[in-house]
Amino acid sequence: MEFTIKNTSPENLRTGLLVLGVFVDRPLPPAASAVNEACQRKLSGLLSSDLDEKAGATLLLHGLPGVAAERVLLISLGAYAAFNDKAWRNALSAAGKALAATPAKEGALAFDETMLPPGRDLTWALRQASRIVADRAYRFDVPSAKKEKHKEHGARKLTFLLPAPPDAAQEEALRHGQAIAEGMALARTLGNLGANVCTPSWLAETARDLGKQFKFDVEVLDRGDLEKLGMGAFLSVARGAHQAPRFIVMQYHGGHHHKARKGKSGGKTGKPALSSPIVLVGKGITFDSGGISLKPGAEMDEMKFDMCGAASVIGAFRALAGMNLPLDVVGLIPATENMPGSDASRPGDVVRSMSGQTIEILNTDAEGRLVLCDALTYAERFKPECVIDIATLTGACVVALGRIPSGLLSTDDALANELTRSGLDADDRVWRLPLWEDYQELLKSNFADMANLGGRYGGAITAAAFLSRFTGAYRWAHLDIAGTAWLSGEAKGATGRPVPLLAEFLLGRAQAHELIQP
Ligand code: BES
Ligand code: MN
Ligand code: ZN
Repeated sequence: MEFTIKNTSPENLRTGLLVLGVFVDRPLPPAASAVNEACQRKLSGLLSSDLDEKAGATLLLHGLPGVAAERVLLISLGAYAAFNDKAWRNALSAAGKALAATPAKEGALAFDETMLPPGRDLTWALRQASRIVADRAYRFDVPSAKKEKHKEHGARKLTFLLPAPPDAAQEEALRHGQAIAEGMALARTLGNLGANVCTPSWLAETARDLGKQFKFDVEVLDRGDLEKLGMGAFLSVARGAHQAPRFIVMQYHGGHHHKARKGKSGGKTGKPALSSPIVLVGKGITFDSGGISLKPGAEMDEMKFDMCGAASVIGAFRALAGMNLPLDVVGLIPATENMPGSDASRPGDVVRSMSGQTIEILNTDAEGRLVLCDALTYAERFKPECVIDIATLTGACVVALGRIPSGLLSTDDALANELTRSGLDADDRVWRLPLWEDYQELLKSNFADMANLGGRYGGAITAAAFLSRFTGAYRWAHLDIAGTAWLSGEAKGATGRPVPLLAEFLLGRAQAHELIQP
């Protein structure tokens, strides 16, 4: 989608679909009021009778006299006293839905400061709005026998109508929202593809192509490389699979470009060293059958989504590069299938991780922590500022928190708070679970340094407690996205979460960085 900002009068704007927000218990905002006057107050008459009060309710009107737009869509912002982030987002989401379904090729959305939730500014609103609308336009390209392409519908362009000309930050906010939506779309598509297509090498090729397009470095390690590194935990998961494992290393050197832009240019050749980067680690199990500890059959198809952590890291890189942020960021993805097979790991097997710590595999279905622990050890070489891993790690997290927030577990309060804030700002929320020392004893093994299982209770926490044993060298947070990375049932499909959260976090870091730069 293409976004622009204009400040023409709404009644005179030639557009296929003009979207106007209105409070149910307030005078019309300036844009709606101008349109209302132009059409002999037809709007105010219809409002009380035909528009539902709930924020996000819509009313579509065709051919209003005196108004240049072909269609006008009224959207309820709800009652003024109850107006908040959620009501605003409901309204935006409804607008996005209408824009994605309209036969109009382009639309416009009128906006002003009186229509912002408390504490929010126009820059934030434009970033969120463009992201929400662009994400609403996402469609998975379903392979089908039907030869003819499905009918193109939905607006391709959206103009934000503001009362004043935009400043640079507002223009930038639209590009940011768009870049985040593109990152989400990529993450969603990777998640939605079947595991016969989206293999470890498919993930690697996707990362490579993205690196070429956006000029960041991508290195792909194969089985031989992993053996040399001593990644015995990761390799133990890959044993049963016919598909070859891949370990993907992405390096985005935005911090360096930034310094060059700021005037420290020169004939510098060769690659700049990353300076204490943010490291993102994504679980990339392209299919989780459970391995020898085979999962039951019901809904097993959804285990193609077990690479959504990896997809979110690739999506976050797309967003990061699209926003051209002045940061150094590393992405690490251990990618493999988890399959049964005659050479697959068995319950009772003891393996040595890259860290040297040994692990007794009590259940081959607790494979995510096994691939992640070696990636977390590998992360040490970057001397990270912080490390965030993202994983569809435990069913227990879904039991604990449902499908609204992702689980957050961290040994660093400041980092945890920062991520929580980013999640609220991006409407991609997390909820923190405790990670006290007390949980560690649940991982005791008679045959190794630890077991890969913590018993019946607190599964999301014991999984994170396991990971924490590999993160002593840096500040670390873990996001369990088992409940948020995809939807089941009729709306089955990947959500693109937590790309919005990660992008908001990176954006916050970039802004802080910019402030302290001379
Ligand atoms: N990928 C699953 C977690 C999962 C299950 C996510 C269902 C979403 C829906 C993970 O690898 C897994 O199988 N975890 C086990 C761990 C258990 C064996 C300790 C689980 O959650 O049951
Ligand atoms: Mn599993
Ligand atoms: Zn899994």
